[in-house]
Amino acid sequence: MATGTRYAGKVVVVTGGGRGIGAGIARAFVQNGAQVVICDKDESGGRALEQELTGTVFILCDVTREKDVQTLISETVRRFGRLDCVVNNAGYHPPPQWPEETSAEGFRQLLELNLLGTYTVTKFALPHLRKSQGNIINISSLVGAIGQVQAVPYVATKGAVTAMTKALALDESRYGVRVNCISPGNIWTPMWEGLAALTPDPAATVLQGTMNQPPGHLQWQPNPGPGRPLPPDVRQPALLHSRIPSPGPVCCLGQRRSLEIAVAQTCLAWGLGGP
Ligand SMILES: NC(=O)c1ccc[n+]([C@@H]2O[C@H](COP(=O)([O-])OP(=O)(O)OC[C@H]3O[C@@H](n4cnc5c(N)ncnc54)[C@H](O)[C@@H]3O)[C@@H](O)[C@H]2O)c1
Repeated sequence: MATGTRYAGKVVVVTGGGRGIGAGIARAFVQNGAQVVICDKDESGGRALEQELTGTVFILCDVTREKDVQTLISETVRRFGRLDCVVNNAGYHPPPQWPEETSAEGFRQLLELNLLGTYTVTKFALPHLRKSQGNIINISSLVGAIGQVQAVPYVATKGAVTAMTKALALDESRYGVRVNCISPGNIWTPMWEGLAALTPDPAATVLQGTMNQPPGHLQWQPNPGPGRPLPPDVRQPALLHSRIPSPGPVCCLGQRRSLEIAVAQTCLAWGLGGP
């Protein structure tokens, strides 16, 4: 149910929107009046959200399949007549692995998802985003900038997402399309839960993840249930990036937002008379 109108009349695609961070972002846009297309390769979460949230449509789509992505974008525009924002959130973090344990095949598959999936959705969305002077928000990761142990392929793909965001922001500025990425730290999602469960001492892993965050951000609960809230740090910057009127402030082009600075940046933009 919309409680705000900051994004009324706009159409947003959120990839990997069926659960975790993507579901949180979809909710935030719906609450602000947007119509949201939830894209996910798994049906269960997206279909449930579609039932729950008025103003959402679920489209089954694997972002690593070009045909699926083509249909996702054409179906979005056929149904709603426009496209204003794409949030490239679909992604995966493999279990911890030392360099000698990685395989070229596994690395390639991760690139296909985290980097090329983002690129493919962007490519098919751009003609429509240029018309609406819309924007793209890529969900990268803080570790793409600072590194992470036992995660060479993941870090490489997210570093590449951040770099691609900067290059695309430069190219698209002439069309008034804004391109940004958000680089979250640890956020408690089904993915994090699954990764922690694979470690020898899940509770210690969660504690370590919690200690690595500003207080309260991992939001770990001993028995997490459905519907637990995501921290506002990801949802609100996603909305903010999508809403700054075009042409937005130059500092918002190709910018990487990490969890730590997200709140401060958001406050700054609000203070400057942003949305
Ligand atoms: N959770 C964190 O701590 C964290 C931190 C930094 C960055 N991220 C990034 O945020 C994004 C979301 O992470 P999350 O923790 O919410 O993960 P998650 O696994 O809980 O949710 C990801 C969603 O993406 C979907 N998905 C996966 N592959 C897909 C594909 N090929 N096509 C379409 N949908 C697909 C999954 O089905 C799932 O619904 C990822 O890109 C991740 O790398 C997460």
